Amino acid sequence: MGKAVDLAIVLAAGEGTRMKSSLAKVLHPIAGKSVIHHVIDAVAPVAQSLNVVVGAHREEVESHLSSIAPSASKTFQAERKGTGHAVQLALADTKAEGVVLIVAGDTPLLRTSTLNEFIEAHVELESVASVLTAVLPDPFGYGRIVRDDLGAIVSIVEERDADDDQKQIDEINTGVYLFDIAALRSASQKLTADNSQGELYLTDVISLIKNSAQVAVAIQSNDFTETLGINDRSQLAECAAIMRDRINDEYMRAGVTIIDPMTTWIDSGVSISPDVTIYPGSAIHGSTRIESGAVIGPRSTLVNVEVEAGASIIESRVTDSHIGADAAVGPFAFIRPGTRLAAKAKVGAFVETKNASIGEGSKVPHLSYVGDATIGEGTNIGAATIFVNYDGVEKHHTTVGSHVRVGSDTMLVAPVTIGDGAYTAAGSVITEDVPAGAIGVARGKQRNVLGWVLRRRSGTKSAEVARDAGANELGFQE
Ligand code: UD1
Ligand code: CA
Repeated sequence: MGKAVDLAIVLAAGEGTRMKSSLAKVLHPIAGKSVIHHVIDAVAPVAQSLNVVVGAHREEVESHLSSIAPSASKTFQAERKGTGHAVQLALADTKAEGVVLIVAGDTPLLRTSTLNEFIEAHVELESVASVLTAVLPDPFGYGRIVRDDLGAIVSIVEERDADDDQKQIDEINTGVYLFDIAALRSASQKLTADNSQGELYLTDVISLIKNSAQVAVAIQSNDFTETLGINDRSQLAECAAIMRDRINDEYMRAGVTIIDPMTTWIDSGVSISPDVTIYPGSAIHGSTRIESGAVIGPRSTLVNVEVEAGASIIESRVTDSHIGADAAVGPFAFIRPGTRLAAKAKVGAFVETKNASIGEGSKVPHLSYVGDATIGEGTNIGAATIFVNYDGVEKHHTTVGSHVRVGSDTMLVAPVTIGDGAYTAAGSVITEDVPAGAIGVARGKQRNVLGWVLRRRSGTKSAEVARDAGANELGFQE
């Protein structure tokens, strides 16, 4: 099936002055994708070809476009002389005929389904120029739709050019249009900068076409949130919140439990299966995939993580890692890139891992650092164990076998290998391999200096209670 329109033009040359940002407005992220990426995702399914008008921040925008929409052509608008000027330049760059869809690059909430309805209406009404409109609770700042007594569109008047009566109109121009390309070509040549901003307004094309006795229509959309444009940071936050709600609603309808949708932020590239539960304050980013029965949060952040069925991640941060089925993470774990937890593995409180493979049922329950390591199955890493992977110049690997018991507060100085079924004594600094079935003991032998406190700390509470307990200066216990 051919796509509905021959060409789509995305206008993205504006300065975005009100963002007060060194980043181009259309490159600001919402739900893990740039503003313009959302727009292109909405537009691409209905358009045979795509042209983006770039200007401000040209290089960054073009390089972003070449990764998200490599087949899109680009028109450079060196000087921003208005939306009408931008379209003139885009048309000069194309031989396309038929119907063109024009959208602004700063309306990330637009949906393909709305565009399809708009296109259907345009075709049905045999329109030459159609503008998508919306009724806004607060129309301030937008172009207003002026209609005649019969309800037909007469013109679009910008806020800055509107009189007091026109400012009362609450139906606004969403900045989404459909035109017959030939009609747009000839009308756009007639634009003048005769307005308060001294710009060529694309909006004036509507009345020009109408005055040449061709059909121009204004078609109202029913969801005004789709057409919200981003001009400043508070609109960025507003759009992000609407996007968040949309994404969360979709997951909840699909069977995901989200305890507090207001504080749950899920990127658009994520995939979550039914019967996952997400507790408040969680953020799920990138290409994260979460399987059924998993529990995420409260207050957990996942970036590009594969979470298998039944796993739990509580009050933790996890990046670029794999969490196996029924594995448990947290509370308060920091799981860094390259961590792989096999099924039923556990990484507990105040544990940091990086580039570490932790075998089935193995546990790192408390206060440890596991970096550059391979751990077998059924192994327990005692509290406060450190995998000493860095010698100040290079990183080295540690291998721990299956069913190993690493004693608390062991330093495993890499490169080192602990064989299957081996133990290490608590407090050991292990610098040499421990063979299978052996215990590695590497710590100072204990000696007690009797009476030391009574001699060297006399008069202290410690000395007093020691004496009560039977100690004396000579160190003899009575
Ligand atoms: C525009 C419309 C207004 C509408 C609103 C919807 C005009 C004159 N006004 O106003 O009726 O209600 O959008 O959001 O069209 N751009 C260029 N080159 C330029 C100027 C703008 O590419 O020379 C791009 C911008 O990057 C932006 C889009 O066109 O993506 C709209 O421009 P903007 O300045 O945001 O127009 P608004 O004042 O919002
Ligand atoms: Ca705008």
